[in-house]
Amino acid sequence: MKQKLEALELELRADLKKADSRDALEGIRIKYLGRKGHVMDLFQDMGKLSAEEKPKAGKGINRFKQLVQDGLKQRQVELGKLTKQKSLNKAGTFDITLPSVRRELGRLHPITLVIDEISSLFVEMGFQIVEGPEIETEYYNFEALNIPLEHPSREAFDTFYLDASHVLRSHTSPVQVRAMEKLKPPLRVLVPGKVYRPDAVDASHSFMFHQVEGLLVDENISMAHLKGFLSVFARKLFGEQTLSRFRPHFFPFTEPSVEVDVTCILCQGKGCRVCKGSGWLEILGAGMVHPRVLEAGKIDSSKYSGFAFGMGIERVAMLKYGIEDIRLFYENDLKFNRQFGG
Ligand code: DAH
Repeated sequence: MKQKLEALELELRADLKKADSRDALEGIRIKYLGRKGHVMDLFQDMGKLSAEEKPKAGKGINRFKQLVQDGLKQRQVELGKLTKQKSLNKAGTFDITLPSVRRELGRLHPITLVIDEISSLFVEMGFQIVEGPEIETEYYNFEALNIPLEHPSREAFDTFYLDASHVLRSHTSPVQVRAMEKLKPPLRVLVPGKVYRPDAVDASHSFMFHQVEGLLVDENISMAHLKGFLSVFARKLFGEQTLSRFRPHFFPFTEPSVEVDVTCILCQGKGCRVCKGSGWLEILGAGMVHPRVLEAGKIDSSKYSGFAFGMGIERVAMLKYGIEDIRLFYENDLKFNRQFGG
């Protein structure tokens, strides 16, 4: 019996190895487990054995039966895999000569690149990066910045209202007051973020864009400091040859207020289409923080003074990279997005 079992085990292994289809496997099943199969024969042989030999033989046969069942299952799984591979090859969907699938590394969006660059220039000058909410109260967006309800300049900051007292912030300036409430002077903060205005979308307008706000408060701060910081900044961002000029302007939250121009980065001040022949490009608004704004931030305006500025990121990115349509920033076209940064 023992020898018989050993011989059958070898035969079984050879049969399984050869089997290359479901039909072949079924043939094996019948050969070994069928009504007239080997296992049945073995049990019949067992009947002829003595009472002492029977249990041992029974165990051996059952073990063999299990071996057949396991072997069939395993071979079926192997065949399944092989067939799949074969049909892939046949259909031509798996060509081992093709280059492998490449995992592309992501890149930073040009807006992120410009925010990062501006942020690190100001961090070098001792500023800390602070963020504020995009859903803002009317108080921080307007009142605290010296723009009362009836103030005509409120129209210049055309605004999305969410309800009677909440807006989508129309500029990053509200974070000035939030920062002053939290931090004691001397303070230097830089606030990048999204802002919203109900503007019709065209090549230079969008209902959402990015700004960066700067605020410095300390004792004895004057326009000279503002001019110094912003001139250094403009040279670092646009190149050493860049000059800045300050033009008087009006903002409710600064007094005096200025608009800052830099020499046109395309024509170096000679005059071209982009700077409309003037040689200068306006890049930001700035001024000395209005005493009322300092007081809204719980800062003693008789002891401290400060400067603030606000700049549109898209505009800087468009100038820096020569982009002519603001909408390109938001279309998520990878052919566009991939062109910037390292
Ligand atoms: N908040 C202004 C705007 O959105 C920009 C601005 C002007 C910010 C002057 C300032 C500033 O901090 O001092 O148009």
